Amino acid sequence: MKLNQNCYVNLRELEGFAGEKLQQMTFDYYAGGAGDEITLRDNIEAFDRIRFRPKMLIDASQLNMSVNLFGTVIDTPSLIAPMAFHKLAHDEGEIAMARAAAKANTIMVVSTLATASLEEIAEATNGPLWFQLYVYRDRQVTIDLVQRAKAAGYRAIVVTVDSPVLGKRHRDVRNLFHLPPSLKMGNFSTGLEDIPEQTSGSGLADYIASLYDQALTWKDLEWIAGLTDLPVLVKGVLRYDDARMSITSGARGIVVSNHGGRQLDSTIATIDALSEVVQAAEGKVPVLLDGGIRRGTDVLKALARGATAVLMGRPCLWGLALDGEQGVFRVLETLKEELRNALILSGFPDVNAITSDLIGE
Ligand SMILES: Cc1cc2nc3c(=O)[nH]c(=O)nc-3n(C[C@H](O)[C@H](O)[C@H](O)COP(=O)(O)O)c2cc1C
Repeated sequence: MKLNQNCYVNLRELEGFAGEKLQQMTFDYYAGGAGDEITLRDNIEAFDRIRFRPKMLIDASQLNMSVNLFGTVIDTPSLIAPMAFHKLAHDEGEIAMARAAAKANTIMVVSTLATASLEEIAEATNGPLWFQLYVYRDRQVTIDLVQRAKAAGYRAIVVTVDSPVLGKRHRDVRNLFHLPPSLKMGNFSTGLEDIPEQTSGSGLADYIASLYDQALTWKDLEWIAGLTDLPVLVKGVLRYDDARMSITSGARGIVVSNHGGRQLDSTIATIDALSEVVQAAEGKVPVLLDGGIRRGTDVLKALARGATAVLMGRPCLWGLALDGEQGVFRVLETLKEELRNALILSGFPDVNAITSDLIGE
């Protein structure tokens, strides 16, 4: 019997259903990673290697799953990661994603490369939004984005630092990745909004190589932090020294990320990098993690290693592709329900009081 796409019981099954629905170029762009996709796989396998030491006879009748991030209280410690081009998955694109996030009372991080403008997305929802920033060589573009995000009510800026150029994404090269003529990047209108079809290679790789700043350093992060009174988080940190530099350069939060295995292949899995970043942060700033979150138990593992919250990427796109806003909401609820179950069974009913001894050696 062929399973109906709405009958999935866990998020690992979703990719297969989305693959049946999406065009090959879109599916490969969403699902794929860089190089041999070693890091893409390892992000998940590294979670699978971790084992719990659950505590028994702990009163788990009252759970606390909510966390406070810079004054915003959300219902679960999992956010929606910034991802480009949602309208490739569904006509309502980022608007549907943002409405689902609001309904689940969590934060959506809106990508610079959204296929709707940051203002349109903010107008479509009352939910909390953060803005993910790519730094263009033209600094005025960067300044404008930060100012627009603040004016539209975004509550934090997430600067992605792992993408001075695009990783070698072979699927996109093979598919000549581009945006169909009907789709534009909503945040731009002066020639930065298109990725036209070309005769060879990934159009996105060429876009980024020609427009992003490959000379970026920690000094520039300091400059960005000085542009706004919004909290600035650094996304893409995987080492102790970089975590320290993030904080001394003005970051108020760190996202441990390898871009879902899409940038430098063979990079360490994020859950394996988390502990040293948490140690470096010394509790001064929240540390978040993304990459490979597919299960409530993955969230619990990240919290036990010291993360304040996690972000989930691809499963949200699969939900969007399958059923728009409802589809994303269901993905978020599935993760939340699994986390609820794991909190009770582990004997750690409060997400803010999970300790590292939950994990075995
Ligand atoms: C299709 C796709 C597009 C992405 N676009 C962006 C982006 O525009 N900016 C960014 O900082 N990260 C981007 N990412 C990386 C995600 O924010 C996140 O780090 C990653 O997807 C987490 O891994 P997961 O998909 O295994 O949950 C993208 C990821 C995917 C899958």
